[in-house]
Amino acid sequence: MTLDARRLREDFPILARLVRGKPLAYLDNAATSQKPKSVIDALSSFYSTNNANVHRGVHTLSEESTNMAEAVRAKLAAFVGAPKPETLVFTRNATESLNLIAHAWGRKFLKKGDLVLSTEMEHHSNIVPWQLLAAERGVRVKYVPVLADGTLDLDACRALLAEGPKLFTFTAISNAIGTVNPVLELIRMGKAAGATVSVDVCQWAPHRPMDLRTWGADFASFSAHKMLGPTGVGVLWGREELLEAMDPFLGGGDMISRVTLERSTWNALPYKFEAGTPNYADQVAFGPALDYLSAAGLDAIREHEDRLAAKAKALLEERGVTVLGPSEPSKRSGVVSFNVPGLHPHDVGTIFDLEGVAVRVGHHCCQPLMHKLQCGGTARASFYLYNDDSDVEALRRALQRTLDFFKIGAKAGAR
Ligand code: ALA
Repeated sequence: MTLDARRLREDFPILARLVRGKPLAYLDNAATSQKPKSVIDALSSFYSTNNANVHRGVHTLSEESTNMAEAVRAKLAAFVGAPKPETLVFTRNATESLNLIAHAWGRKFLKKGDLVLSTEMEHHSNIVPWQLLAAERGVRVKYVPVLADGTLDLDACRALLAEGPKLFTFTAISNAIGTVNPVLELIRMGKAAGATVSVDVCQWAPHRPMDLRTWGADFASFSAHKMLGPTGVGVLWGREELLEAMDPFLGGGDMISRVTLERSTWNALPYKFEAGTPNYADQVAFGPALDYLSAAGLDAIREHEDRLAAKAKALLEERGVTVLGPSEPSKRSGVVSFNVPGLHPHDVGTIFDLEGVAVRVGHHCCQPLMHKLQCGGTARASFYLYNDDSDVEALRRALQRTLDFFKIGAKAGAR
């Protein structure tokens, strides 16, 4: 199955707009994806016809709301291969999912001196929660080093796993430079070392098929807004026994079974971890996003993005631009992170914007990785299913305008 991106684009109203008088070339999909009309309409229709708080009423609207929100949990379980819908907890975002693990699992099961193993490639959300826990509980945090080509040092990883970490937490795909990690191998290595294994799949779930049932990890975190869904919906998948054994994250309404003035008991999964009114309207609108991705086909999406990203990488390199990350195509995703020698990424991003090209610039919430790769930041083009060759062409024009503006020759290195 191949994608007809030209046709898909018609489903995304925002892609018809102009930016600075130019057709929008939206290449910031690693930060957030655009939404198809079916998602936008679902949100509007839900508020127009069904809205009522979930799990709290016997009236018709509340039952409709509850059923619609729970149907999406079941759809999501099928999408990511979760063994049961109730092992999927809705959070605000993936950052909250990772913090939930740190609070509800870490505080209960980690003690002073225990080792948490993360990597130098992580988003801050997979570093800072562990640092906070280190300060509070005295756990130790170590990081698998990143090699110069932007891949993880697997020998060092093996050696660090031999130190017996209680938790091994890593990203499946780098949001900053697009490296695709050997996820299944890392999970297997972590489990063989006796660690609980948590995978950040924020940049995987929107682009590649996954089957949590067979992956063998213990936790997976991701968010809806990067997968055509609304903002404000994160997901934590956890192995059922672990979620059962964990204490709640936040206390309040709906997460309890019984409350007296002295003590409380907890609701069943997943509600134990969903205190307060959840973002049920956006959960409902996440449903059509999953339908859209399923209809397009994740294998076809990946193939399409890989082709565009490879084309973008080649044209950048032809002009002397440094593209970060591994050179081997199988280790790359739809993220193309680059630096024009001598230019600050913010200047690059600003000129790209004049051409209607949206790229993210900066450290991408990965300061330790940028430090390791000896750059303060990068410009990052990230592709998704609705991008097509016209976006790569816009990228080429934007680069040329940047090189011309700064009077940089055909090879960026040769000023
Ligand atoms: N984590 C998102 C990014 O990489 C926001 O841009």
